[in-house]
Amino acid sequence: MTDAVTTARLEVRPPVEADRARFVEFLCDPDFMVFYPVSYTEAQANAKFDHLLALCQEIPFGKQPVVERATGRVVGYTGADYLEVEGRTWLEWGYRLIPECRGLGYATEAGNALLAVARRTYEGELLAVIAPDNVASQKVIGKLGFTFWKQAPVLGDLCNLYTLLVQRP
Ligand SMILES: CC(C)(COP(=O)(O)OP(=O)(O)OC[C@H]1O[C@@H](n2cnc3c(N)ncnc32)[C@H](O)[C@@H]1OP(=O)(O)O)[C@@H](O)C(=O)NCCC(=O)NCCS
Repeated sequence: MTDAVTTARLEVRPPVEADRARFVEFLCDPDFMVFYPVSYTEAQANAKFDHLLALCQEIPFGKQPVVERATGRVVGYTGADYLEVEGRTWLEWGYRLIPECRGLGYATEAGNALLAVARRTYEGELLAVIAPDNVASQKVIGKLGFTFWKQAPVLGDLCNLYTLLVQRP
């Protein structure tokens, strides 16, 4: 597991058990999970958090909390998780913020910081899966350097797929 990375306004750090309640709250909140085709029960959200704890032991840029330094609040998450798309297991990059922390550039700031960790520890492609009408996310993924690949169905919905080739500097 790696240490936290910090930016001017944010800290991005691996999850710890004390984050569980906040993450379960996030995953069960339809506003937080907007543009996601599946809703979580509390049990499923707990299982997902168990998965993220284990994932971040294995992958230093796994999906992990984004903390707003000024307030100390966990305001979302960013990073990669495994996803099967078209018969291939990808590392899929994602981000979600609480509604009051959207529109501030946090997803790009946190994403760039964690992508720097990926560049030190990983070589290969990352995938992003975005609903075609999610304009904000499409802007963020471009700012992170991903390029449009194609449209394809993922979890039953037609999505825009983007990729980024990560190479060590
Ligand atoms: C998507 C999300 C992570 C973006 O993060 P963010 O830190 O708020 O992004 P930014 O502040 O950089 O804003 C992104 C851009 O989209 C624009 N934007 C924001 N909301 C928008 C909207 N509803 N319609 C059109 N453009 C929008 C912003 O003006 C900004 O434009 P710019 O890049 O030209 O400056 C955040 O909005 C979020 O958590 N949304 C809900 C969850 C989600 O959709 N996650 C991604 C799933 S693929």
